[in-house]
Amino acid sequence: MTPPPIGSCKFDLDTPTLCIDLDILEANIQKMHSFMNERGKLWRPHQKCHKTPIIAHKQIKEGAIGVTCAKVSEAEVMADAGIKDILIANMIVGKPKWERLADLCNIADPIVACDHYAQVAPLSEICKSKNVQCRVIIELNIGMDRVGIRPGRDTLDLAKAISKLEGLKLSGIMGYEGHLLAIEDQDEKRSKINDAMSVLVQNRDMILNENLNCDIVSAGGTGSYQMTSDCPGITELQAGGGIFADPLYQEQCHLRGLDYSLSLLATVVSRPTRTRAIIDCGRKTHHPDFQAPLVKNIPGATVVQTSAEHCELSLEEKAQDLKIGDKIEIIPGYADFSTVLHNEFHAFRNDQLEAIWPILGRGKLQ
Ligand SMILES: Cc1ncc(COP(=O)(O)O)c(C=O)c1O
Repeated sequence: MTPPPIGSCKFDLDTPTLCIDLDILEANIQKMHSFMNERGKLWRPHQKCHKTPIIAHKQIKEGAIGVTCAKVSEAEVMADAGIKDILIANMIVGKPKWERLADLCNIADPIVACDHYAQVAPLSEICKSKNVQCRVIIELNIGMDRVGIRPGRDTLDLAKAISKLEGLKLSGIMGYEGHLLAIEDQDEKRSKINDAMSVLVQNRDMILNENLNCDIVSAGGTGSYQMTSDCPGITELQAGGGIFADPLYQEQCHLRGLDYSLSLLATVVSRPTRTRAIIDCGRKTHHPDFQAPLVKNIPGATVVQTSAEHCELSLEEKAQDLKIGDKIEIIPGYADFSTVLHNEFHAFRNDQLEAIWPILGRGKLQ
């Protein structure tokens, strides 16, 4: 399949096609960075929403200090693209991954999260044997009850143990307040985020009191950074998905001030009744479960059902002139699970194709 020529009009492209509005993407990146910067926080955006080095480089050009990843293979993709300061905010377990992580230290300066000695003692041996040093941060459970060590004595003991391991450098702590993103009452949300962040700060102080290193105190996601940025003691934020500002963040997490930059171009392939239209973008092209997609620029058109290859729209009277062959855009409800279904982003400015970016981290799961 020949790629569409640069300069093509968006609506001349075949469908389904994953599209980025570059002006909006760049504005979102700029706004996220300046929001954190004004509050004295560093930005280490999670790349899981895009998995694309070109986008990570745009964020770094704007002022981000590096990237956050979930997998060693994602970190490898970013390191191969020249990015050095990479946080793997996830527990890394097993010899093949520890070997790769140690090798990564030759071309980048990764940081890996841990919540148990068993994740880092073998990594220390491997790093020592390869004569490299890997930075480590401890993930604390600040209420989400996913991973994370208990704050307090357990955290301090682990910090002390890590500081004695050769080949590793204790660099700080992290916590993710993912359980607080969707709190409806904004005062309650802010107060609970403050409480969660003060747990991190108390633990940082305990670690510092033992004369151990704790330069990094990392937290925050797109659904919380507009509050977490105000918390003292947090040094950097991991919010990533805000660059697409998809409906999930805007509807469920009250994300404000950013616009939708991601869309999926689709074709109307059937008009079974006056009030129904079927477009060619099913679940194999976007993920509708956590948050329903929106129909862009067609008032009165709503997504009601999605199957593997079909997406059904319900049409109010004002949207009923839609006809077979028309091209329309939907805004995926949750970008993270939608972008990974595609091989590339098509990047547009004023609806003209400016670039095609391969999603190099797609399928990088190990
Ligand atoms: C460890 C971690 N950090 C940060 C985030 C926030 O990512 P985003 O800003 O893309 O929602 C997540 C989301 O799942 C996460 O698991």
